[in-house]
Formats: sequence, C-alpha cells, structure tokens
Amino acid sequence: MGAAGGPFRRSAAPYSLRKGRNVTNENPVVENLLLGVTGSVAVVNITAYLTEFRQRLARHVRVVTTRSAERMMPAESIALYCDEVVSPDSPAARKAAHVGLAQWASLFVVLPASANVMGAAANGLAPSFLTSTLLAAEPGVVFFPNMNTTMWRHPAVSRNVERLRADGHRVVVETRSATEVATGETVDAPVVPPPAEAAAALHGVVEPTGGSDPVARSS
Ligand SMILES: Cc1cc2nc3c(=O)[nH]c(=O)nc-3n(C[C@H](O)[C@H](O)[C@H](O)COP(=O)(O)O)c2cc1C
Repeated sequence: MGAAGGPFRRSAAPYSLRKGRNVTNENPVVENLLLGVTGSVAVVNITAYLTEFRQRLARHVRVVTTRSAERMMPAESIALYCDEVVSPDSPAARKAAHVGLAQWASLFVVLPASANVMGAAANGLAPSFLTSTLLAAEPGVVFFPNMNTTMWRHPAVSRNVERLRADGHRVVVETRSATEVATGETVDAPVVPPPAEAAAALHGVVEPTGGSDPVARSS
C-alpha cells in the first residue's frame, strides 16, 4: 500500500494541509533525525510522534518505513508530518541509498520497533531497506520496542535486546497496561511511551548531562 511513486515530500502536500501547522523548530536538539517505522500496531499513532519530534527535537526529519508499517499506516499520511518518507519501493531504496541515509542522520531512532526489525539488527541481517540502513549505521541507534507481551518474553527476543545493547545501541523499554490487539486482553506489555516522554528520553540520550553523548553523532 502506498509505497510506489518514490519518496513522498512534505512540499508535495496540499497548501491547505500545511498552513497553520506549527512544525518549525528554531532550536533543534539535533539537526537530522532519521526515524525507522515498523509494522507494530503502534504505528497508527506515528503522526503524533512526528509532530512532537519536529517541534521539540529535530530540524529535519526523514522516515524510513517497512512494508508491514505501510500496511497499517500509508506513506502518504506519514509524509504530511515529516520532510521525506523513504518507502521500500521508492527510488531512494532502489538506488541502495541506505549508506548515505545512515550517514545523514544525527540521530537514528526506530519507533515503533518490531521484534522482527530488532532481531534483524541484532543479528546483522538486512532483508529490507530499513534493516540495510540499520546495518550501515554506527552503533547508537535508539529502539523503542512495542509488542505483545508473549513475544517480548520469548528468549530469542530477550537475547536480541541484549545483543543490541552489547553492540552499543539503546533499547528504551516502557512497560504499561495495554490492551493487546492479538488477544484482546489487558496486560502489562512493552509499549512506546507517549510522544512527549519519548522526546524527553531522546533528549536524555543526546544531552545526558548537558554535554555530548557518543550515542548521538553530531551532524
Ligand atoms: C495488526 C498487527 C499488529 C502487529 N503488531 C505488532 C507489534 O506491536 N509488534 C511486533 O513486533 N509485531 C507486530 N506485528 C507483527 C509484525 O507486523 C510482523 O512481524 C512483520 O513481519 C514485521 O515487519 P517489519 O519488522 O519489517 O515491519 C503485528 C502484526 C499485525 C497484523
């Protein structure tokens, strides 16, 4: 869904959609935020995160989607809230631009992070454009997992999280009471924190004591 036709640029949005949106960030914490977006149900809320990040975190925001993510949230919708979306079938992806995109990023975040993408990143696998970009990036990517609690407790997922951390990445885990899509049950599950809290966590990564953090490379 929605992947064909190349990267979607915000400038392509109708004027009436852009007018009045307060997304100008005069004092960004980072220049270039690269946001990987995966096929977790939490992707349906991604526009609220993009609004927050553009207002309080980054001057430029580019999004890399997976096919699963775009089955739940069309690239055309995401594109209204960021500078550019790189879809799996876009020209940028076809030209193998993953290395340049990874180098462009001052801060690389995966939100929401699926078990699948974390597993690939932990094991050096690159079956998609997003996982290729992750493999082209230096350690220091920040993952915000969101998944069913049964998946989260699986030893393979625990192993992958440990491996990501050992490689120098960050995995921000927030456990809250949530109703699971798969079972309809309300249980404690790892979820992406609300937008303001996610932004605050990223501020802490970039400026842990008001100084620099090697996790976030300067642009
Ligand atoms: C409705 C629905 C919701 C899903 N939610 C999650 C989720 O929250 N976390 C997760 O890890 N996988 C979830 N999945 C499974 C992933 O979509 C699946 O593993 C997919 O292959 C992930 O692809 P990606 O990692 O390339 O985005 C969900 C699947 C469906 C159909």
